Amino acid sequence: MRSRIGVGIVGFGTVGTGVATILLRNAVLIRRRVGIPIELVRIADLDIVRDRGLALSPGLLTTDLKAVLTDPDIDIVIELIGGYDTAKRVIMEAIAAGKHVVTANKALLALHGEEIFDAATRKGVDVGFEASVGGGIPVIRALTEGLAGNTIESIYGIINGTSNYILSKMTHEGQGFQEVLQDAQHAGYAEADPTFDVAGIDSAHKLAVLVNLAYGTPVNFKDIYTEGITGITPTDIAYAKQFGCTIKLLGIAKLVDGEIEARVHPTMLPSTSPIAQVEDVYNAIQVVGDAVGDVVLYGRGAGSLPTGSAVVSDVIAIGRNVLKGTVGRVPAASFQQDQRRPIRLRPMEEISSLYYLRFTVVDRPGVLAQIAGELGRCGISISSMVQEGRCEGQTVPVVIKTHSAKERDVQTALREINRKPFVSEPTMLIRVEGKDE
Ligand code: NDP
Ligand code: HSE
Repeated sequence: MRSRIGVGIVGFGTVGTGVATILLRNAVLIRRRVGIPIELVRIADLDIVRDRGLALSPGLLTTDLKAVLTDPDIDIVIELIGGYDTAKRVIMEAIAAGKHVVTANKALLALHGEEIFDAATRKGVDVGFEASVGGGIPVIRALTEGLAGNTIESIYGIINGTSNYILSKMTHEGQGFQEVLQDAQHAGYAEADPTFDVAGIDSAHKLAVLVNLAYGTPVNFKDIYTEGITGITPTDIAYAKQFGCTIKLLGIAKLVDGEIEARVHPTMLPSTSPIAQVEDVYNAIQVVGDAVGDVVLYGRGAGSLPTGSAVVSDVIAIGRNVLKGTVGRVPAASFQQDQRRPIRLRPMEEISSLYYLRFTVVDRPGVLAQIAGELGRCGISISSMVQEGRCEGQTVPVVIKTHSAKERDVQTALREINRKPFVSEPTMLIRVEGKDE
C-alpha cells in the first residue's frame, strides 16, 4: 500500500505559484479527500531566486528540469511553463518515464493533443488538463463525465478572461484598449504573447479542446475561424447598447446536420442573456445537451489560485486513481481513442447568422438605397436601420441589422459595397446571436 503521491512542478510562474500554494495550504484537506498525502517533491524554474511569497523547504527548488523528470519519488509531473517546444518535451519525457501528467497548456494541446493522448494511452498513464479551458471552471470534467450521456448540440463560451476584461472595461468604464490590456497583464491573466488573447487565438485553442471532447473528433485549431477584439470601437459598443445588446468574444461550436460549426469572433448578444452579463476576467460556458438542455458554467477564467484550483483537481483525480491501482478510467479525449471519428468542420462561408453592419458613408441622397439594393441583390433582408444626425457631404455611420443570412452572401455584398465611391472606410461586421425578429 502506497503511503504518498509525489508531485513535481515545472514552471513556477503565475499558475505554478497558485498550485504550490494550494497543495501546501490545503494539504490536510487534500489528504482526507485522496486518502494519502500529496507531497510536493520538486519545483523547476529558470529563476529560483525570486521571492514568490511562499515558504518552501530547502532543496525543493531546482533549475534542472531533469531533476523532476527522473526523480523516482515523483508520480505526477505538472507542466506549467507554457509554449510549445520545451513544454512538449517535458510532457513526452514524463510520459515516457511512466509519470502521469497535468498541464494547463491549451496552446500545446490544440496543436499536439492527439500525439500526447496517444503516447499516454500507450504508456498507461493519465493526462489531466482541467485548467486548459475556463481557468477555475470545471468544464473539462463536465464534458467528459457530468454530460457524457448527452449529444452536445452547442457550446457558447466566453473562454478568454483577458478579452472579456477588456470589453467589460470598454463597455462600462469607457477605458481605452491599451490601458486595460496592461492591467490584465499585470494581474497575470494574459498569455506570454497577449496577441493570443486579443486576436482570439487563445479562445480558438480552447474551443479546439472543447470540440475534441464534445464530439470525439480530432480538430485542427487552424481550421477554426478566428477573429479577435482589436477592431471593436466605442462606436460599435454604443450601437450595441442602443439595440439592447452587449459585445462579447465568443467561442461557438454547434452540431448542424451532422457537421460541426466552430468559430471564434466578437458577437452581439441580447444584454439580458446570461452570457452577456459575464464581466471582467470571469468566463462562462453554456452547453446545450440533447437530454439535459442548457447548462451554464461560470467562474474565474484566469489567475493564479483559480487556475491552480483546476490543476490541483487533476492531481487529486490522478492521486485517487493511483491509490486504487487504476489508470485511463476516463479517456483523456473523453471518447475511447479507437472510437474517435472525423467529422466535417463546416467552412465559415457556409454558416448562417444575423449580422450587424456599420457602413461609413458620405451623407448624400441615394446612398442608403444603393446599400439596401446591394444587400437585396445578395438575398439579405434588413431587420432594422439607424442613421443619426445629418451632415450633408460629410461621412456618417449607417447601421443595419439583418435577418438570418448566409455568411457567403454577406461577404459578397460587402465586397461590392466597400468598392462604392461613397464608402470611406471598410464596413464593420459583427455577428449577432439571438432571435430572428
Ligand atoms: P508564467 O509566465 O507566469 O509562468 C511560466 C514559468 O515557467 C515562468 O516562471 C518561467 O520562467 C518558467 N519557465 C519558462 N521556461 C522554462 C524552462 N525551460 N524551464 C523551467 N521553467 C521555465 O505563465 P503562467 O503561469 O501564466 O502560465 C503557465 C501555463 O498555464 C501556460 O500554458 C498558460 O497558457 C496556462 N494558463 C495560464 C493561466 C493564467 O491565468 N495565467 C490560466 C490558464 C492557463 P521565466 O519567467 O523566467 O521565463
Ligand atoms: N490568457 C488566458 C485568459 C488565461 O485571459 O483567459 C486563461 O487561459
